[in-house]
Amino acid sequence: MYQQLVILSLFAFAYSASVGGGSAPAFCHGLDCPEYTVARTFSKGYELRNYKPSKWVATNLTAMEFTDDNRREMFYKLFYYISGNNSAHMKINMTAPVLREVFHGPGPTCESTFITHFMIPFGLQNDVKAPTDPSVYIRDMPAMSVYVRSFPGHPSAQDSMNELQKLADQINDPSQYEDMFYFFAGYDGPYVLSSKRHNEVWLVAKN
Ligand SMILES: *[C@@H]1O[C@H](CO)[C@@H](O)[C@H](O)[C@H]1NC(C)=O
Ligand SMILES: *[C@@H]1O[C@H](CO)[C@@H](O)[C@H](O)[C@H]1NC(C)=O
Ligand SMILES: *[C@@H]1O[C@H](CO)[C@@H](O)[C@H](O)[C@H]1NC(C)=O
Repeated sequence: MYQQLVILSLFAFAYSASVGGGSAPAFCHGLDCPEYTVARTFSKGYELRNYKPSKWVATNLTAMEFTDDNRREMFYKLFYYISGNNSAHMKINMTAPVLREVFHGPGPTCESTFITHFMIPFGLQNDVKAPTDPSVYIRDMPAMSVYVRSFPGHPSAQDSMNELQKLADQINDPSQYEDMFYFFAGYDGPYVLSSKRHNEVWLVAKN
């Protein structure tokens, strides 16, 4: 309950503080979010984005499947990092999206690795504070090109997989993207109405 209140007030603050916003997309709600350009939009409704390199705080989990408890536990590890669990005991602004990468195990009975990430705010990208929790680490995300499909709602793990499958079907050419890993991006706090939520699935383009 306490944790939910903290999250609600955090997102409420982020909302009320969103002014100006520069060129960031509206679905970032004024929070810092990774910079990209749209290389191509496809009539089927997905797009190809070129992302700049960026630094993220991250935590891993290896498991057969990803549960709500896993999601919450990983979120809070990163939330504690931005709340002061870092070498500078600094409060760090929330960013968007919450980005989850999934590495498939090699077979259906194999475990997968799930990595949850928050982007380091722009003002700290060159002055990243070290995490104090040993299971939390800083990750350098390289520049990358990703195919993106956007969708609303509160997706379950299965919903997200269905959206990923739709994106793969729309691209209709497995040679165009990496197929051992993919990303889910969620841009909204828990209180945002389902129809107003912005979620994305990403497949990383091969050159
Ligand atoms: C954190 O966010 C607030 C509200 O948007 C902003 O005024 C402040 O400058 C940000 N802090 C840093 C260090 O970027
Ligand atoms: C997190 O998982 C990725 C993908 O399996 C792996 O390459 C990386 O070494 C892991 N990092 C940590 C700190 O466990
Ligand atoms: C992180 O913060 C939480 C909540 O303040 C605290 O309980 C926990 O001990 C901290 N962990 C580390 C490794 O600093």
